[in-house]
Amino acid sequence: MTAAGAVLLAGTGIYLHTTLRGKLRIWERELDQADLRGDERLLDLGCGRGAVLIEAARRLPAGRAVGVDLWSGEDQSGNRPQATLANAAAAGVADRVAVHTADMTALPFADGSFDVVTSALAIHNIPSPQARYRAVDEAMRVLRPGGQLLVADFWPMARKYAAHIGQGTLRTLGPGYWYSGPWLGVTLLHAVKTT
Ligand SMILES: C[S@@+](CC[C@H](N)C(=O)[O-])C[C@H]1O[C@@H](n2cnc3c(N)ncnc32)[C@H](O)[C@@H]1O
Repeated sequence: MTAAGAVLLAGTGIYLHTTLRGKLRIWERELDQADLRGDERLLDLGCGRGAVLIEAARRLPAGRAVGVDLWSGEDQSGNRPQATLANAAAAGVADRVAVHTADMTALPFADGSFDVVTSALAIHNIPSPQARYRAVDEAMRVLRPGGQLLVADFWPMARKYAAHIGQGTLRTLGPGYWYSGPWLGVTLLHAVKTT
């Protein structure tokens, strides 16, 4: 095998590990560290088939996990609200999960109506930088003061979101969230809304 072939093969293996296991393990850890009481209202932007939404719902026995998405089949295969709800039912959390078809740049929710907002590898799918910043502004708008924002995205994007809102900490999430290599690594922006 050539060196290029070996790099390609390794990259494919890392990609598969990230999508099948790595990102889930990392979100389990991050949601545990968010120290949820269990009765919060959590919003997941670009929930797709529900990887993060359902993991969050497991930690919210008396709360609510709400997902919004436009269900792009290009961004995630088999992307449909019915698939997300079926996954929630299979995980035994359907009673506390809701999904809405909504654009995260114009959320249909009141100011301060969520305790936690999460988003996993979704905001970068919005084509224009202005619209990506609008999504981040919307996330902050619907968060209550003291609420937590947890956004995982490719590091150049996450860095820009942090600069845009002027608060929060950035942390690389490591090899478990590499999409083929460190050049496509994921960074977590964690912010607590101050006002
Ligand atoms: C790469 S998938 C990630 C899905 C899920 N968060 C995960 O980690 O498995 C990106 C998701 O963002 C959604 N999306 C893209 N632009 C959106 C927008 N403007 N509003 C809502 N969802 C959007 C796509 O439909 C897709 O489900």
